Amino acid sequence: MAQARIGLIGLGTMGAALALNIAEKGFPIAVWNRTTEVTRRFAAEAGPLAPRVIPAGTLEALVAAIARPRTIILMVPAGEAVDAQLDALAPLLEADDLVIDAGNADFHDTNRRDEAGLPFRFLGMGISGGEEGARHGPAIMGGGAAADWDRVAPVMTAIAARAEDGAPCAARMGDAGAGHFVKMVHNGIEYADMQMIAEVYGLMRDGMGLEATAISRIFEGWNGGILSSYLVEISAAVTAARDPHTGAAMPDVILDRAGQKGTGRWTAIEAQHLLAPIPVIEAAVMARNVSARLDERDAGQARFGAGAGPCALEPAALEQALIAGKILCYAQGFAMIGAASDSFGWTLDLPQIARVWRAGCIIRSTMLNDMAEALAEDPGRNLILAPFFAELIDRAMPALRQVVSQGIAAGHPLPALASGLMWFDMMRTARGTANLIQAQRDFFGAHGFERLDGIADRHGPWGGTD
Ligand code: 6PG
Repeated sequence: MAQARIGLIGLGTMGAALALNIAEKGFPIAVWNRTTEVTRRFAAEAGPLAPRVIPAGTLEALVAAIARPRTIILMVPAGEAVDAQLDALAPLLEADDLVIDAGNADFHDTNRRDEAGLPFRFLGMGISGGEEGARHGPAIMGGGAAADWDRVAPVMTAIAARAEDGAPCAARMGDAGAGHFVKMVHNGIEYADMQMIAEVYGLMRDGMGLEATAISRIFEGWNGGILSSYLVEISAAVTAARDPHTGAAMPDVILDRAGQKGTGRWTAIEAQHLLAPIPVIEAAVMARNVSARLDERDAGQARFGAGAGPCALEPAALEQALIAGKILCYAQGFAMIGAASDSFGWTLDLPQIARVWRAGCIIRSTMLNDMAEALAEDPGRNLILAPFFAELIDRAMPALRQVVSQGIAAGHPLPALASGLMWFDMMRTARGTANLIQAQRDFFGAHGFERLDGIADRHGPWGGTD
């Protein structure tokens, strides 16, 4: 008997949290996991929400439990598992049923699935906020046909996080893979935000000799200002935490090898395809890759000695450096989204994306309110040129320059902050050095160049011709 408003497949950490969120907002939900015991346990532990949870023992039972036209959310690992699940659902669903892939899919896969002509409706949806967000209010980035989004919008806006002004952080980004694309860039920015925080943490720990608790207090202070954000907040929390086994500060007992599931890497790869400069994100991905090479780093330290020496910096300068780095990084990320919009014909709404990221997601921050406003003034203008952010940059850039130059002079690796600074200096140099690149290209390959003076000669006096 059809009683559920919606169905959900995949009761892992995120799927289970999302299902409870949906039930809590008043929508009866049918759930199925390929391991029956997981489904049974989930329903048994749903507590007061149990009356709105319908556990299904089979995929057929799941489909039968959902009211027509059906909506089913997939929360299974990205990649082949999604294709396998779509294949399994195909014979069971009707043309106007809707399947939503809410995992961290590669947006190319979402485009492919959308174009493949599935025998049912299909949406790709990026969901951010980790387990806590999924349970109590994530940010939701949808992709697919507007009519399909409209169908599920009541559920999505009910379960999404709310920004300070009460607006739900859920929206349709555009067609097909647009939602997963925006989620991918979100994750790239997430990597960069985390890396820049880790870099100033390194300066405080290794350059200024601060203990984790002192660093925690500094992060906490920053979280009350312009840098107010989830990632600074949790950085204060993790540096304050003590290891129950040894009593040491938690960060001091954790191996410095960062994991990654690939979304940051995808962002960097896609940026190259789009010719979109996102050096801060690329540096963050690179830093994770270097972090994984523990043996080589040991050998490097044994041969060359440890780099990071004392570095006299004030926390206030680090705060300003982080403010500058953050603005530069987001300016790059939004510009990349703009490039994708043009390239893929998506008409992505940059201010709306900033608004959706204001709450619920991992990169949520106070600054995104101002970014949304600045982008709304002129979505085509680089964020660093918006008057509000240009003034912040004017104030913060001397500190970024000081922190990067002193840090680098003392041997501290600061790839993300330094990449932001390099990009900024390029962005404010009207006449750069690519004239020499063009001359070299013409010299060895007769590739031609444009002249400044309008004379109609595309080649230098080294023998090249068209
Ligand atoms: C989110 C996160 C999440 C991501 C994790 C881990 O928005 O909730 O981006 O989707 O999977 O943060 O990512 P990595 O393993 O690549 O660090």
